[in-house]
Amino acid sequence: MRALVLSGGAGTRLRPITHTSAKQLVPVANKPVLFYGLEAIADAGITEVGIVVGDTAPEIKEAVGDGAQFGLQVTYIPQDAPLGLAHAVLIARDFLGDDDFVMYLGDNFIVGGITSLVESFRVERPEAQILLTRVPNPTAFGVAELDSGGSVVGLEEKPRQPKSDLALVGVYLFTPAIHQAVDAIEPSWRGELEITHAIQWLIDHGHDVRSTVISGYWKDTGNVDDMLEVNRSVLETLEPRIEGSVDDSSEIIGRVVIEAGAEIVGSRIVGPAIIGADSKVVDSYVGPFTSVQHDCHLTDSEIEFSIVLHHSSIAGVRRIEASLVGHHVEVTPAPRVPKAHRLVLGDHSRIQISS
Ligand code: DAU
Repeated sequence: MRALVLSGGAGTRLRPITHTSAKQLVPVANKPVLFYGLEAIADAGITEVGIVVGDTAPEIKEAVGDGAQFGLQVTYIPQDAPLGLAHAVLIARDFLGDDDFVMYLGDNFIVGGITSLVESFRVERPEAQILLTRVPNPTAFGVAELDSGGSVVGLEEKPRQPKSDLALVGVYLFTPAIHQAVDAIEPSWRGELEITHAIQWLIDHGHDVRSTVISGYWKDTGNVDDMLEVNRSVLETLEPRIEGSVDDSSEIIGRVVIEAGAEIVGSRIVGPAIIGADSKVVDSYVGPFTSVQHDCHLTDSEIEFSIVLHHSSIAGVRRIEASLVGHHVEVTPAPRVPKAHRLVLGDHSRIQISS
């Protein structure tokens, strides 16, 4: 069995932090969301992985390399434009051969991995197996309609009037029957070859399409609250380790990771929290559910339940909570006179000021 991981798409989504970079590299507990997917694939006993890449190929390749760090053998499959999930299957035909495969969308996060799912697929081998989860906003997803026995009777992509709140999660298991379906469908109104249409084609032609409803699912929708929440839940599972340096006047409490080269000076870190490689925390408090990525500087500040991306600095600011700070950001106090806020905010920024 092989895996096809989709990490293409244009690199210009206007979301708080995927503004300029690959959305599959959005960090959860300081690790790109894509890595959790690759680890789940390796855990399920799959080693041959094709990664579909687009505009952001250089970034993805730099992060994943040849896949050896995950115990995988990675083949990159370039896609000229994001022409749809089924288009990705089409261009991966040579890589996939006649093997069964799991298709994994690189921006999806599935709590608990996919091992049991892959195992039952290997035994039962329906033509397709999809995952569903209940969501509050089904219009943003592919949506499934089930009959009273739980069989999939219909799928719709981003429906205006959803027939259920069961969204398609970005993990699909296929036998080679999907190739015939992908060849048969036409592009949708949005110009994409939709995998939902290909699966619908399988249903309409009498193939066995099964579904499993899961909980514990997240994808980057640009919703900061959701991102803080998934970060929180993953931090809670961290194995504490201290690879950087912590001076005698600092206190480390609970589940805390201090990555290599990080320096903690005169500070209090209360876990679960992670301080990334080569970051410096001086005379500061870092509270629970906080991820600080690599090469950040926190000085004389307090922060809690937040995510700070690489190369950012926060100095003399208390107290930051429930916040997402992008990379190369500077947060400092305003001068005392005049008493005013001074802001340089990027597109789509959101800021709440207490005054
Ligand atoms: O995340 C689940 C949803 O993913 C499903 O509910 C939908 O049915 C499915 O169509 C898909 O919807 P999105 O519109 O959210 O997909 P998105 O464009 O975000 O692409 C998903 C991933 O696949 C992302 O990592 C980018 C990659 N991709 C996407 C397209 C369209 C490619 O690599 N190539 C592509 O052509």
